[in-house]
Amino acid sequence: MSAQRIEGKAISDAIRLEIGEDAAKLAARGVKPGLAVVLVGEDPASKVYVGSKAKACEQLGFYSEVHRLDAAASQDELLELIDKLNNQSNIHGILVQLPLPKHINEKSVIDAISVAKDVDGFHPVSVGNLVIGDDSLLPCTPAGVIELIKRSGIEIAGKHAVVIGRSNIVGKPVSMLLLREHATVTICHSRTANMEAIAKTADILVVAIGKAKAIGSSFVKPGAVVIDVGINRLPDGKLAGDVDYEDVLDTAGYVTPVPGGVGPMTITMLMLNTLKAAKKLNQ
Ligand code: GUN
Repeated sequence: MSAQRIEGKAISDAIRLEIGEDAAKLAARGVKPGLAVVLVGEDPASKVYVGSKAKACEQLGFYSEVHRLDAAASQDELLELIDKLNNQSNIHGILVQLPLPKHINEKSVIDAISVAKDVDGFHPVSVGNLVIGDDSLLPCTPAGVIELIKRSGIEIAGKHAVVIGRSNIVGKPVSMLLLREHATVTICHSRTANMEAIAKTADILVVAIGKAKAIGSSFVKPGAVVIDVGINRLPDGKLAGDVDYEDVLDTAGYVTPVPGGVGPMTITMLMLNTLKAAKKLNQ
C-alpha cells in the first residue's frame, strides 16, 4: 500500500482563504495587518525568503515593509530599527531574518522585539508561553506541522510522536506543540542511542535534522504519519527532504513531500500570526 501524500500547498491555500476572510473583517474596522521584515546582509537564501514573505503580504492585502541593512550594519543600528518598529502602530508583526552576521548577537536582537509583535515566536516570553500552554504567537514551522496533521484528519491525542531534531526553531517547539495536543512525545537527536528502534515505535514521526534523505523506511512503523521538515539542496540542484520519500512510501500511512509539504505552511502561518497580532493589538 502506498502512503497518502499530505498536500501542503492545498492545505496552505485553504488557510490563506480563511486568513483573507478574517482580514476583510478587520479591514472593515479600519485595520490592515502590517508586517515588517528585516534583512541584514546578502545571504541568498534569506533574500528569497524575504521576497516570498513580502509577496504573501501583497496577495492577502496586508501592509508590509522590508528593511534591508548592510552586512556591516552595527547591532545598535539594528536595535534602533526594532525599537522604532515596536512603536509603529501600522506594524503588528516584526521578523528579523536569521541567520544574522557574526558580529551581531542574535539573542539580544530577538529579546528586543516586542512580545506582542513576535510573529516568529522566538522571544523567550513567547517560548515560555508556548511551554505553559498560554495563548501566544506560535513559531511558524512547528505550528504549520500541527495544522498539516490536523487538517489531514489525523488524531494526535494519545499517539506516540517521535521528533528527530532538537533545534530551537523546530525540534523543541514542535515537541511542545505535540504535547499540547496530548501526544506522548519522544525527542531524538544526534546523541540518541537506538534512534532507528525508537523512531519505529512512532505513530507520528517528525523529522527536522537538515540532512538529505537521512531517514528511510527502516525508521518507519507501518502506517505511521511521516512529517518531513527538511529542505536540502542536492548537488544536482534539486530539493530533497530529510526523509527518503520514495523509500518510505510503501511503509508510511501518510507522508509529506519536499517540496510541497511543510514548506508552503511556514509563510502561511506567519501571515496567520500577523493577523492574530493585528487583532490583539486592536482589540
Ligand atoms: N531563517 C530561516 N527560517 C527562519 C524563520 O523561520 N524565521 C526567521 N526569522 N529567520 C529564519
